[in-house]
Amino acid sequence: MKFYVTTPIYYVNDRPHIGHVYTTTIADIVARFHRLCGDEVFFLTGTDEHAAKVVDSAAEHGVTAQQWADENALAFQETFAKLGISNDDFVRTSQERHKVKVQQYVGELLKTGDVYLGDYEGWYDAGQEEYLPENKAKEYEFKSPINGKPLVRKKEKNYFFRLSKYSDALLKLLEERPEFVHPDVRRNEVRNRIREGLNDVPISRAGASEWGISVPGDAEHTIYVWIDALFNYLSTVDTDERRKFWPADVHLIAKDILWFHAVIWPAMLIALKRELPRQVYAHSFWISEGQKMSKSLGNFIDLEKIDRYVANFGLDALRYFLGRYGPLGINDSDFAEARFNEVYNAELADKLGNLVNRTLTMIQRYRSGLVPEPYDKALQAEAEKTVATYRDGMNRLEFVGALEALWGFVVRSNQYVEESAPWKLAKDPALARQLDGVLYNLAESVRLISVLVAPFMPTIAGQIRTQLGIADKMDLLDVEISWGRLSSGTKIGPVAPLFPKRT
Ligand code: MSP
Repeated sequence: MKFYVTTPIYYVNDRPHIGHVYTTTIADIVARFHRLCGDEVFFLTGTDEHAAKVVDSAAEHGVTAQQWADENALAFQETFAKLGISNDDFVRTSQERHKVKVQQYVGELLKTGDVYLGDYEGWYDAGQEEYLPENKAKEYEFKSPINGKPLVRKKEKNYFFRLSKYSDALLKLLEERPEFVHPDVRRNEVRNRIREGLNDVPISRAGASEWGISVPGDAEHTIYVWIDALFNYLSTVDTDERRKFWPADVHLIAKDILWFHAVIWPAMLIALKRELPRQVYAHSFWISEGQKMSKSLGNFIDLEKIDRYVANFGLDALRYFLGRYGPLGINDSDFAEARFNEVYNAELADKLGNLVNRTLTMIQRYRSGLVPEPYDKALQAEAEKTVATYRDGMNRLEFVGALEALWGFVVRSNQYVEESAPWKLAKDPALARQLDGVLYNLAESVRLISVLVAPFMPTIAGQIRTQLGIADKMDLLDVEISWGRLSSGTKIGPVAPLFPKRT
């Protein structure tokens, strides 16, 4: 099966921070899981470049908008590469391949009458690049709800998208396909807002496009940056080789941009008679050390801090922390150093690291480093139950459930060491078969765990397998999960701690 996963495309004006890294990392975990399942995956991320403020910042820095965008897009690309993100493409909205398609889509909408020229009078939040209707502007006291700057009064000729025409279709969509917006709370928010009534939305700003994409046939109008940006999901795969990937299986975003993804985007796709994405998944936010991240508080988890965590704990520990404690649900999550330390020690070093290390050390000590013969199947049933819960969790983007099941199995395997006390069995030659069996079961658990942690911790997974003496490249999940695949006689590799203790 094909599987298409996307992240938001990030504003090129910002430097990458933990928020961008988070959404892209969870998309990476999802992509790796589906590859492991044998799906043909297309994983897309990229940058959103045509915001008006890019022109301003470029001018402040004495460069052209394109140069400024190039420089900052590169920072995102380099960051994601450094973090081992396995995206299949990186789209930039200033690329020709994207611009041509956006003009084509808007052209189609002009033809169907879903886009028309009208008069706009209202408010604009320049920092957010967002038009606000009168009632919203009033509610926010005519200040940006995000940065507190005064909203700008706008009166101009604009092209509009006939969003009002689609409110029944959207309500029907949410009714018939409840999985379209996740989590449930977010779907209810969207539904309630649609019920309040939908206005047509401006999709252009007046002015020739020195930076941006012009409305086809009218160079005096530039396509509004949000409309331009949403089309990235389609434009990138709208080629002969990639068309099979549409519709997207999941658009991963945070709750801040839900409206655009759950309302405007599907309405435009309905108007274009394109298939709709299967799901928009809106997660919550990271806060830092108990407070909203802000530049003035100095608690931003920026690139420098991320680099420090990676240097101290390893990239995979960061990925684990993001996957296990991140805001995939409806609550915000706190990125706190003390907590990170605690998780590293308790869950990674003491549980997973310890299980792998003691298993391999005992095979070295008692069996000269050769995996012995199986004897019974003491851990098999639990292993199979773990796999089932894990799979189900991963398919539903419930990482916590998946990881809890997996760590439950790690804990169970550690308990099994205590219960079966191999050091006692080793003292009695008459119990040699039993000792073989215990060591085999542990080695097989470790092998299975290496497979299931792989989407979260690909490097650690490889290290576990190398230490176990098996190929770090894996087969498909269905094959890997069959109990007993590990061959007796396998010579284990050099043993080293996976998670050196930190304080
Ligand atoms: N360019 C638009 C998106 C267009 S998509 C067609 C945009 N860009 S952004 O750079 O502001 O990125 C917003 C996204 O970054 C959020 O939706 C989320 O995925 C991620 N995050 C930004 N801050 C975040 C946190 N503090 N916590 C978690 N993720 C957050 O909006």
